[in-house]
Amino acid sequence: MKINWSGRAHNYSSADVNYLLKIIKKADPMTQGYYLKKFQKDFSDYIGKKNVFAVSSAAAALEIISALLKIKKNEEVILPAHTYCASAIPFARNGAKLVWADINFDSRTIDLEDFKKKVTKKTRAVIIVHLYGYAVDFRNIINFCKKKKIKIIEDCAQALGAEINNNKVGTLGDFSCYSFHAQKNITTLGEGGMLFVRDQNLAKKVPGLRHNGHSNFKFKRKYYWKPAMGNVDSDIIGQWPFKFTLSEVQCGAGIRMLKKLDSLNNLRIQRARKIIDKLSNFKELKFFNPNGKRRHVYHLLSAYYKPSKKINRDDLINLLNKKYKIQSVIQYYPLYNYDLFKKNGFGTANCPNTEKFYNNMISFPFHIWMTVTEIKYLISSISKSLKILQKKR
Ligand SMILES: Cc1ncc(COP(=O)(O)O)c(C=O)c1O
Repeated sequence: MKINWSGRAHNYSSADVNYLLKIIKKADPMTQGYYLKKFQKDFSDYIGKKNVFAVSSAAAALEIISALLKIKKNEEVILPAHTYCASAIPFARNGAKLVWADINFDSRTIDLEDFKKKVTKKTRAVIIVHLYGYAVDFRNIINFCKKKKIKIIEDCAQALGAEINNNKVGTLGDFSCYSFHAQKNITTLGEGGMLFVRDQNLAKKVPGLRHNGHSNFKFKRKYYWKPAMGNVDSDIIGQWPFKFTLSEVQCGAGIRMLKKLDSLNNLRIQRARKIIDKLSNFKELKFFNPNGKRRHVYHLLSAYYKPSKKINRDDLINLLNKKYKIQSVIQYYPLYNYDLFKKNGFGTANCPNTEKFYNNMISFPFHIWMTVTEIKYLISSISKSLKILQKKR
């Protein structure tokens, strides 16, 4: 048996494929039509918020957020460096000064006390990244941020369906993004995303920013090309727009997958808990075991492997790979160590937990398509590897 780190998280059922075939054959228009509206409506019902917009990726959603904020040069955006680079790039591109907050060592997500310490008069926004599918409970900084006029951006790329005290992640901040990339908890045929904007006036600008400045196409199709002028969502005003639209077929896939999201997430949670429980005797391997009124959706299954003088995380990765043909990965290279970030002045940070976790973490394959037998094989292989390494420590 072997378990690859796969670039495909989901399989589509025959019913899904038939639904998509109908769109491929019949949909007119093929973009920005019925399925876009339906996907947005279903998503809005799911998270319980209006002002949601389907876009081509979470990175695109973050670009739009960055454009809506109109961050001035050298205004500061605080975010964890332990995240995927897309959380940071749009803000750096638009001239923000990135300030790195450390992570909490146990939750592997932003340390809210460290965030507060790093706030200055120039802080415009904070990015809360619900990494690994873990819901960050940031309710105790909401008032603090309001008073200081700091906008809260939630990066929920990995956490659709996670909850903080019965609130879906992405609904407590000012802006949020979700990803439907191939490996996420649901996917719209490999790429896709969703944007939530709390402020009604800012939200009106999104359809134009998303689609080359064109308005919502409220008017009839026969007037497709008639420009709608003179109001906030009229054609090409104010700001250079993007082209971040999602096609009808992708929206159709989103509609189908959204229906399955809760059961897919429940399966993830159940499997993750089982794996964590079965490996709980190995004190050198520390998973994040959530507590409190939060629902964590285990987008990934990562753990800290405590090194000894002789043995470290790389030994565990190599053993799993060579002896058991299981591919694991190391995530996330602290963003301040990348050349591009360094060259742009974001190469310094005081983030000891970020370093310690990155240097000793392992992310096990945890794809939803894995069979019960594969999950069992994963548990027994990790367990056997840990025992072998215990003797060498
Ligand atoms: C934390 C985080 N933010 C943003 C993104 C960007 O998502 P997308 O690929 O949809 O642009 C990702 C994707 O991996 C991510 O993991």
